[in-house]
Amino acid sequence: MALYSETVMDHFRHPRNVGVIENPDGVGEAGNPVCGDIMKIYLKVEDEVITDVKFETFGCGSAIASSSMATELIRGKPIREALALTNKAVTEALGGLPAHKLHCSVLAEEAIRKAIEDYYRRQGIPVEGGGCGDCAGCCGCGG
Ligand code: FES
Repeated sequence: MALYSETVMDHFRHPRNVGVIENPDGVGEAGNPVCGDIMKIYLKVEDEVITDVKFETFGCGSAIASSSMATELIRGKPIREALALTNKAVTEALGGLPAHKLHCSVLAEEAIRKAIEDYYRRQGIPVEGGGCGDCAGCCGCGG
């Protein structure tokens, strides 16, 4: 069996949503200190919906494919849905990643969460740990 799925290879060779958004509503960056790879996510938000998203990734092929897929998954989605995106969902949408490459998809989850937190901060909405705040007595721990 091939190490990488067709979908991973497609998103690696033809990444979607690469670039920078001028005057973004939120920016998030995540890095992996072990491999040194860095991912940056830019968001445009209108009425709590992500209307545009772009990424810059200085990293491995799996990180590029993960960024590409993650941006596709949150484009046009309500902010709260995007906040709930997990690296597991990104990996599944990619048709899987080898175990030693799973951490690459974590970068996408982290960078998106940080970009959304940045958006909330710019809006003056308190953010603590990315909790949704929906549950009674929410501590905002995100767990
Ligand atoms: Fe660093 Fe993939 S090896 S993100």
